[in-house]
Amino acid sequence: MRMRIPLLCLTTVALLLTGVSAQELESSEACADCHVQAVADWRTSRHALSTAATNPFYAAMLKWATSSDGQPQENCDLCHMPARSLAAAPRLENEGVTCDVCHATEPDGKWLRVNPSGVKFGPYDDAVSVVHESQFSEHLVSSRQCLTCHGNLASAHGFAFCSTQKEYLSSSFSKQGITCQDCHMPSIQGVTAELGKIRQVHSHKFYGGYNPEILRNCAKIELEVRGDSTELTIAVKVINRTVGHALPTGSPMRAVYLSLRALDANGKVIWQNYATNPLLEDPDAVFMRLLEDEAGRPAPPWLATHIKFDQRLQPDETRELLYRISGLNVADIFATLYYRLAPPALLQKLNLDIEPYSNVVTIATAQSKAVTK
Ligand code: HEC
Ligand code: HEC
Ligand code: HEC
Ligand code: HEC
Ligand code: HEC
Repeated sequence: MRMRIPLLCLTTVALLLTGVSAQELESSEACADCHVQAVADWRTSRHALSTAATNPFYAAMLKWATSSDGQPQENCDLCHMPARSLAAAPRLENEGVTCDVCHATEPDGKWLRVNPSGVKFGPYDDAVSVVHESQFSEHLVSSRQCLTCHGNLASAHGFAFCSTQKEYLSSSFSKQGITCQDCHMPSIQGVTAELGKIRQVHSHKFYGGYNPEILRNCAKIELEVRGDSTELTIAVKVINRTVGHALPTGSPMRAVYLSLRALDANGKVIWQNYATNPLLEDPDAVFMRLLEDEAGRPAPPWLATHIKFDQRLQPDETRELLYRISGLNVADIFATLYYRLAPPALLQKLNLDIEPYSNVVTIATAQSKAVTK
C-alpha cells in the first residue's frame, strides 16, 4: 500500500517517456523475465492458441462461419482474439487470451474493458512489484471472470449451444463455492515472480479437453451383469464425478461416448454396442449436444436450426444404460468411456484429421465377469 503513489508516478513517467498509453495491453513477452512459470504454463494453454494465426481449427471454422452467410468475423474474434475489441492493441491480436486480457481489465457490463490505471489485478492484496502496480481483484478470482467468455451462448434461432454458466450454477460445486479457478488453476507452493514471496501459485495451463490429466477419471463407470447364457442384462452406470458443469461443456463439437464389448474366453469380441460410429449405431451411448440444420444434418451453430438432442451428463448426474444381449459364450464385459474434441467427419471435411484435434482420450474403464453357468 505504502508504495502505491510513488509507483504510479513512476509508471506514468515511464509511459510518457516511451509514448505507450496506459490503456494499452502489454505483451506476455513483457512478463516473461519475472513471471517465468506463469508464462511457460500459459504458452502451452489453449488461451495462447485461440487465434486464427495459432489455431488451424479456429481458422478453418472462422472461414466457414464468415463465408457461409453472415457471421461477421468480429463476432468470433471477440473471445478468440480479444485484444482486437479491447482496442489499442492490434499487435497483440495473435497472443489470443493473453495475460493482460485477464490481469489489466475490469468488468464492463457483460464484457471487459481495459483498466486505464495500468494496474495488474491479481489474487493478492500485498503484492509489490517495481514495474507495475498490483491490486487484489474480487472479479478476477471469481467464476464471473471466466464466464465473460465461457458463459451461455444462444444461436440466431434462439437455442442455447453453450450453457456452461447455467450448468455450473446448478452444480453442487458452485453451491459449495468452488470456482472455475479452483479446478482449472490448481495451486502449489512456490514463488510467483523472481524475488517474490513464497505463496500458493496457480497453474496457468488451463487444462481442458486437450489434456488427458483433467479428463482421466472425471467420470466413472459401474457395471452390473445379471442373467445367464440365454440372456445377459448389463446395467452400466456412468457417473459424473469431478466436473463442475455438464460433461462435456462449452463447444457443441465436444463429445463423450461409451464403448461396451462382450468377449469370449479367448478374448475375442463377440458383441459390441457399436463397430465404427456410436452416433449411428448406439446414439444413447453418446453424451453430446447435437445440432442439426433443417435437413436433419449435423451443423455448426450458425447453420443449425434446432437441437436434435442434449444427452450430455449433467453435473452430479448418474446415467444408467441397459443392454440385453445373448449370454452365449460371453466370459468378460469391458466398458470404456471416451472423450473426443470434434466429430471425425468434421475434421475430415476441414482437412484437420490430425493430432491434437483427432485425439481420443480414455476417461474411465470398467470390467466384469459374465455370470454364465
Ligand atoms: C484467462 C485468464 C488469465 C490469463 C490469460 C492469465 N492469467 Fe494469471 N491469473 C488468473 C487468475 C484467475 C489468477 C488467480 C487464480 C486464483 O487465485 O485462483 C491468476 C494469477 C496470476 C498471478 C499471481 C500468482 C498466482 O499464480 O496466483 C500472476 C503473477 C499471474 N497470474 C500472471 C500471469 C501472466 C504473466 C500471464 C500470461 C503469461 C497470465 N497470468 C495469464 C487468470 C489469468
Ligand atoms: C520486473 C519483474 C516483473 C515484470 C516484468 C512483471 N511483473 Fe508482475 N509482479 C512482479 C512481482 C515481484 C510481483 C509480486 C509477487 C509477490 O508479491 O509474490 C508481481 C505481481 C503480479 C501479479 C499479482 C498481483 C496481485 O495483487 O495479486 C500479477 C497479476 C502480475 N504481476 C502480472 C504481471 C503481468 C501480466 C506482467 C506482464 C504484462 C507482469 N506482471 C510483469 C514482478 C514483475
Ligand atoms: C477473453 C475470453 C476468455 C476468458 C476471460 C477466459 N477464457 Fe478460457 N478460453 C477462451 C477461448 C476463446 C478458448 C478456446 C481457445 C481455442 O481452443 O481456440 C478458451 C479455452 C479454455 C480452456 C480449454 C478448453 C479445452 O477444451 O481444452 C479452459 C480450461 C479455459 N479456457 C478455462 C478458463 C478459465 C478457468 C477462465 C477464467 C479464469 C477463462 N478460461 C477465461 C476464452 C476465454
Ligand atoms: C469441480 C471442478 C470443476 C469446476 C468447478 C469447473 N470445471 Fe471445467 N472442467 C472440469 C473437468 C474435470 C473437465 C474435464 C471434463 C470435461 O471435458 O468436461 C473440465 C472441462 C472444461 C472445459 C473443456 C470443455 C469440455 O467440457 O470438454 C472448459 C471450457 C471448462 N471446463 C470451463 C470451465 C468454466 C468456465 C468453469 C467455471 C464456470 C468450470 N469449467 C468449472 C472441472 C471443473
Ligand atoms: C463468447 C465467446 C466466444 C465467441 C463469441 C466464439 N467463441 Fe469459439 N470458443 C469459445 C470458448 C470459450 C471455446 C472453448 C470451449 C470448449 O473448449 O468447449 C471456444 C472454442 C471454439 C473452437 C474449438 C477450438 C479448439 O481448438 O478445439 C472453435 C473452432 C471455435 N470456438 C470457433 C468459433 C467461431 C467460428 C466463432 C464465431 C462464429 C466463435 N468460436 C465464437 C468462446 C467463443
